Amino acid sequence: MIGYLLGSIPSGVWIGKLFYGKDIRDYGSGNMGTTNTFRVLGKKAGIIVLLMDMLKGTLTALLPLFFGVQVNALLIGLSAIIGHAFPIFAHFKGGKAVATSVGVLLIYNPIFFCVVWAIFLTTLYVTSMVSVASMLGFTLITIISLFFNDTVLTLVALVLTIFVFYRHWGNIARIKNGTENMVHFGLGYKH
Ligand code: G3P
Repeated sequence: MIGYLLGSIPSGVWIGKLFYGKDIRDYGSGNMGTTNTFRVLGKKAGIIVLLMDMLKGTLTALLPLFFGVQVNALLIGLSAIIGHAFPIFAHFKGGKAVATSVGVLLIYNPIFFCVVWAIFLTTLYVTSMVSVASMLGFTLITIISLFFNDTVLTLVALVLTIFVFYRHWGNIARIKNGTENMVHFGLGYKH
């Protein structure tokens, strides 16, 4: 429950409304996540929302430690990811589950966390599309986990990959017709 409530905090929406007088859901891709925050509100807000969204997952994955119970960090982390995707504080219409999942992974397996970032940044550099980097990151983690005999990670990563693709349906359509937003390194976003 605590994890779900933490995950439900719509960081991008609240930062946008509080400090910029803008609801980021009315601009750009309409998503409430980090990428759209960068796009609509700029670097400073984007970095803050990235950290907040990741922290929701990280803190939730650490909850068992605070309470002295033994629960798989990945499974408890799912509650924050569900909160982020279906937030009670934003009419259950949430983000694409990317940053919060990565925040959970930091606690579950820091090596996989670094692998995800490496895949993400390399793909982003090559394609200039955050959506492609996100989808590929999840897909490859699912595949790589198969070589580590970690059934829980494989199952969770598989479910999340399917969900991430589902949430990126609009992005996939834009990629197909050549209108997906591109990151213009150093200078913000190309549209
Ligand atoms: O994490 C979300 C990202 O992959 C795509 O975001 O705003 O371009 O739909 P956006």
